[in-house]
Formats: sequence, structure tokens, C-alpha cells
Amino acid sequence: MKIALITGASSGLGREYALQLHEAFPEVEAVWLIARRRALLDELASRLPIPAVPVALDLTNDSDMNALGEKLKEESPEIELLVNCAGCGYLSNVADTDPGLLTRMTDLNMRAITLVTRTALPYMVTGGHIVNVSSIASFCPNARMTVYSSTKAYVSSFSLGLREELRDQRISVTAVCSGPMDTEFLDVGGIKGNSKMFRTLPYCDPKKVAAGSYRAAKADRAFYTPRVFFKLYRFLAKVLPSTIVVKLAKT
Ligand SMILES: NC(=O)c1ccc[n+]([C@@H]2O[C@H](COP(=O)([O-])OP(=O)(O)OC[C@H]3O[C@@H](n4cnc5c(N)ncnc54)[C@H](OP(=O)(O)O)[C@@H]3O)[C@@H](O)[C@H]2O)c1
Repeated sequence: MKIALITGASSGLGREYALQLHEAFPEVEAVWLIARRRALLDELASRLPIPAVPVALDLTNDSDMNALGEKLKEESPEIELLVNCAGCGYLSNVADTDPGLLTRMTDLNMRAITLVTRTALPYMVTGGHIVNVSSIASFCPNARMTVYSSTKAYVSSFSLGLREELRDQRISVTAVCSGPMDTEFLDVGGIKGNSKMFRTLPYCDPKKVAAGSYRAAKADRAFYTPRVFFKLYRFLAKVLPSTIVVKLAKT
């Protein structure tokens, strides 16, 4: 059975990926929805036009990660699409942040994406797609979100290297570099109301970001950056010295 596996499916962008899956990938027969909040996954599953399996687990927990591996081994599905969307980012200087929150970001945004990908790869079909949710934060470090932006630089770099490794299997890997979206991310990370940068920047619509990501994946694009404003930022961050851009990019 051809399936899609979506992490971070219980809210925000991940939920949008699930809602738009059938239209974008009609060949996918079922979807596994991964996040911690089971009730939200159940509610989402009931709205989808294809069979959906809620897989409630904490991706920062080793035994939960092993359970995902065991479930894949048991069911041996063909994975057509893997969307690594689960992520979190906390606003605060490194010195002022609870160490547990710092490692939560590195564990979820880097370790988990690496392990989920490694666990899923043996089941991925030739011609399949991997969508890794990075961020505009990957373009240059953002002071006050230094750890978050560093984890997203990892996601973009990981995606580009993996893309090259999987070329012979014709598995596309796309890093999605969205600007701010009005999702739970802003409340969870203590960002809402506390960042002039987040108040000033234009926002991206998760519906459009999900649709654009799927288009980019099918077109085998390495990166997808929504909105002209952020495409321009990506270009400037490439050509200007990072010691200058970092001063402008403070959150
Ligand atoms: N919103 C923005 O401004 C923005 C901008 C650029 C990029 N992004 C990226 O977009 C992605 C999606 O974020 P979002 O904006 O949609 O925020 P969100 O609504 O907070 O979604 C985060 C998702 O990750 C899941 N998650 C968190 N911790 C988890 C864990 N330990 N194990 C399993 N799942 C976990 C959450 O579900 P549970 O709580 O149910 O586990 C939720 O489904 C993230 O990678 C984020 O870095 C966001």
C-alpha cells in the first residue's frame, strides 16, 4: 500500500499538508499522521478522504522513535511521500533560555528529522518525495533565535546533501523555507507580542505554503521559499557578508 507519512500533523502547517495530500498526490492510498496530541490527530483523520492512521508519539523520545521503526517493519508500507514538519522554536537569548528548551529544539528539529528520515528511507519508493520543513531562519543566524536558526540551517543542509544521495533512486528532497506563519508555533515559542521582527515581517499563509511545497516537491526543486519578499531575502543573505546580515536579521 502506498502511504504518506507526515510529522507535526496535529496543527499548523503539518495539518495543512494532511488536508491537501489527496488533491496533490491522488496515488497515495493512506496517510500516517504523527504528533503527540492524539485527539487532534483523530479529529484530523476523520476529515480526510483517504484512510488515516493517527500515530501519537513524541519524536524526541527514543522508545517512541523505536516504536515507529517497529510499526514500519510490521506493516512494510511503500512510502511515496515523507513530510518532516514537526518543529519548534523558542525566542530568547541562549544565556536566558532553559537548557531543556534548547535541547528540545535541537532534539526535535535536527535529531528527530534525521532519525525519522533514516527509519523511513528503506520503505521509500523510487520516484518518491521528501519534504523537509526548514525556514527563512536557515538563511542567516537570527539573534534571540540563535539555536532555532542554527537547527534550520541543519535542516536545509541535510536536505541538500540527502537529495544528492537519493538522486539515483529518483527520490526528490525539498527544503521548505517559509517566513512567519500565524500558527501555534508563535505561542509555543513565546514569540507572539515579543518580537518586533515578527510584528513587521509579511506573513505566509500555511495553506499556500503547503500547496507550494507539494508543487515544488513534484517539480524536484531543492528549495521552496514562498513570497517574493523572502526570495529576495534569501538572495541578499547569500551575496552579502553574513556579519552584516546577522545584524539586520535579529528577531
Ligand atoms: N510558524 C512559523 O512562523 C514558522 C515559520 C517557518 C518555519 N516554521 C516551521 O514549520 C513547521 C511547522 O510549524 P507550525 O508553524 O505549523 O507550528 P505548530 O502548529 O506549533 O506545529 C508544530 C507541530 O509539531 C508537533 N510536535 C511538536 N513537538 C513534537 C514532538 N516532540 N513529537 C512529535 N511532534 C511534535 C506538534 O504537535 P504536538 O504538539 O501534538 O506534538 C505540531 O503538530 C516547524 O518545523 C517550524 O519550525 C514555522
